[in-house]
Amino acid sequence: MNCWKVKKLQAQNFRNLDKMIFDFSPGINCIFGQNGNGKTNLLEAIYLITNKKSFRKNTSYSQMINIEGGNSEIILQSVFENNQELISYSLRMTDQIEERYLNNQFEKSKTPSASVFINPFDSYNFHTSSTFRRQWIDSHLSLINKEYKQVLGRFQKAMRFRNSVLGLGGKSASIQLQAIDEQVSEYSAFITQARLDFIKDLNQFITPTFKAIFSEDHQLELELDSIFSLWDAKKIYDFYRHQEITDLKAQMTKIGIHRDDTIFSFDGLNAFEFCSLGQQKMAFLSLIFAYIELFRYKFTSYPIVLIDDVSGELDGQRWKNLIQYLETKQFQVMITTANENFRKELERISNSRKFLIENGLLINPG
Ligand SMILES: Nc1ncnc2c1ncn2[C@@H]1O[C@H](COP(=O)(O)OP(=O)(O)O)[C@@H](O)[C@H]1O
Ligand SMILES: [Mg+2]
Repeated sequence: MNCWKVKKLQAQNFRNLDKMIFDFSPGINCIFGQNGNGKTNLLEAIYLITNKKSFRKNTSYSQMINIEGGNSEIILQSVFENNQELISYSLRMTDQIEERYLNNQFEKSKTPSASVFINPFDSYNFHTSSTFRRQWIDSHLSLINKEYKQVLGRFQKAMRFRNSVLGLGGKSASIQLQAIDEQVSEYSAFITQARLDFIKDLNQFITPTFKAIFSEDHQLELELDSIFSLWDAKKIYDFYRHQEITDLKAQMTKIGIHRDDTIFSFDGLNAFEFCSLGQQKMAFLSLIFAYIELFRYKFTSYPIVLIDDVSGELDGQRWKNLIQYLETKQFQVMITTANENFRKELERISNSRKFLIENGLLINPG
């Protein structure tokens, strides 16, 4: 399998992380340490290298640069390995620039691998917030479909412009809206179809993944809730023409794919309304690992899987199930926990590498 895994990582001036080199296993890497010591920071560094942005919302260079000492740049240096082939990859950031180098050559856009991040809050957010669900679909679909990412960007720009025209109103508004709506409807039709296809693809993997992890038979399914499902661009354009007066009055676009939602069902019932919190967490984890299988199906390679402190969300048996599942997989995993009991389960994995982080320092180097 064509699968680039991070072999070495050294961070300089990144949050509280010390300069030491992390020497990772291509399989499971367990990261231990009490709260506030740097476990999530380490995952963030890997995510930043592979996905070109942080998973922390609204974080920027000024939050990421080490606050102690007058440092003026962050450097993340890494080595990736794939079938014994090695490449070096580094990232240099200042408050002005962000540069990436592959084998010491300037690299504009490519990264060696992608990574998927799983954290303790996402399950709750996914089940309770339609905005979060929409963002989840958009970011995960963008990672496997570059055209989607581009069209989504253009749609968002067109929508901002549409709303500013609606906000200003005036005589020329109607003519301007006709021109924008041609674009908006083209993008909307494309995006809706891509979301439908993505959800259909994901659905093939969710139920079997739940069974593979938790050894229980349940039917899990996502469904897109969109007014424009299966509409073509012409029909969407006509719809917006009809909406014009309402939208002008409201000074905003009231209906559209920016309001799309997804419904997650568990044995035919709405997972949020009918499942226990534990089941919701299991369902969400199955969704993420289904996505990872879909990623593999599309690219014949796995992303790097970063699992941050999810142990607190699961009972002991389910945690054991999850670890056993990870042991059967070929992807590289970085898994953190601050929980002593869950740590014991991870210590048991014979061919995993263990790291202990205290105050940003690597106490037990692998
Ligand atoms: N820019 C920064 N410079 C130095 N320390 C930072 C910076 N940003 C966050 N930290 C420190 O990192 C620690 C949190 O690290 P984190 O990885 O979230 O901990 P955990 O091990 O619980 O996952 C906190 O002590 C915080 O003060
Ligand atoms: Mg953390």
